[in-house]
Amino acid sequence: MEPLRAVKGMNDVLPEEVPRWQRIERTFRDLSALYGFREIRTPLVEPTTLFVRSIGETTDIVEKEMYTFVDKGEHSLTLRPEGTASAVRAYLEHAVHAREPVTKWIYFGPMFRRERPAKGRYRQFWQAGAEVIGDPGPYVDAELIDMVALFMRSLGVLDVEVLVNSLGGAETRPRYRDALVRYLEPHRDTLCADCKRRIDHNPLRVLDCKVESDAAIARGAPSILELLGPDDRAHFDGLRRALDTLGTPYRVDEHLVRGLDYYTRTLFEVRGRGGELGAQNALCGGGRYDGLVESLGGSPTPAIGFAIGIDRLLLAMPSEEPAPRVEAIVAVTAPELAPQAALLARELRSAGVSTEADLRGQSLKSQLRRADKLGARVALVLGESEIARGAVQLKDLVGHTQTEVPRPDAVAKTRALLGGGAP
Ligand code: HAM
Repeated sequence: MEPLRAVKGMNDVLPEEVPRWQRIERTFRDLSALYGFREIRTPLVEPTTLFVRSIGETTDIVEKEMYTFVDKGEHSLTLRPEGTASAVRAYLEHAVHAREPVTKWIYFGPMFRRERPAKGRYRQFWQAGAEVIGDPGPYVDAELIDMVALFMRSLGVLDVEVLVNSLGGAETRPRYRDALVRYLEPHRDTLCADCKRRIDHNPLRVLDCKVESDAAIARGAPSILELLGPDDRAHFDGLRRALDTLGTPYRVDEHLVRGLDYYTRTLFEVRGRGGELGAQNALCGGGRYDGLVESLGGSPTPAIGFAIGIDRLLLAMPSEEPAPRVEAIVAVTAPELAPQAALLARELRSAGVSTEADLRGQSLKSQLRRADKLGARVALVLGESEIARGAVQLKDLVGHTQTEVPRPDAVAKTRALLGGGAP
């Protein structure tokens, strides 16, 4: 029989990797809380129309990458490919705007896109995201970019570049669209079949086509920055001034576009250059989506957000010494003493010492070998005679010393050895 395997592009996170995930999650939660963000948890599955209407009908995500199914022959549902659409849906569904003028949410969880799997590109991947709804910017845009840069730094991801661009708003877009179509038209025959269609329906999407010959054409496209109307220009200048004041290094990339239709004005991406990152070097993507709340049925409300790809961030993070799994083990010299080991282990845990007791009836030697493997600092050994004397052997596995201590003192002496309390 064929062995069962996980779905292609969907990964297990094994226990030895989990501490790094937890560190990222903890750092993100703690840092964003300092900025006043609160966490929201939305369903993994949403009505398909939510993503079609927000991400855009002619995007790669909606055209090719969504996991969509019909639920009992009635409703078309989709595994969320990103978190912004769900956040805005929840914002409207719970009338959050009526309670607070500016909403600041973070989220953390798996997203699903049926892309071609490669290193750093998966079909189930994790994002840590943030959305600020109700602030037109541009200063909050700079603060958000600065928060991402700080987050990366605090995880030791130092070799990054922040790229910023503006996609303009309603005053710029139609003008840019016309300029782009004029530029693309003569290339129509060489563009891929998708882009031939996109020229007519959504020419901006040609700019992020992944076909190399199309990407080469896109590089020669007119710069949107040169066509920004006065308000959009002032917004972009304000963003740059604020980033300069905060001292956040960035580079303006007038060709930066990202594959979601909802973006307006500020657009940014954080790219990594170090670690094990290969071609999938976008660690974070974000931007303003001033029209999305309205297009999903709300009143006009400006908004901006970003999402960090956790799987990629892990590839960019410096590797660390694996943390010891436990601080102490309790070993016994005979299998029937195992309940005594469980009792002492329980006392140690109550005192905050992470402890394992091997209750399988193994030889003392193999119990101590396991202590080594787990990275334990202390082994407490109980034998018949120790129990009769009311004592425990306390072994310092790093200092290679052994002392007999009275059983009632065992916990305090262990904590002292670990540096956590008085001897
Ligand atoms: P996005 O650029 O599609 O934006 O994704 C954000 C980040 O998710 C990427 O920079 C990347 O690190 C990670 N990512 C995307 N696809 C994959 C994949 N297949 N495998 C591994 N990692 C991946 C959004 O999703 C927007 N919702 C961000 C946003 C929030 N904009 C405004 N608010």
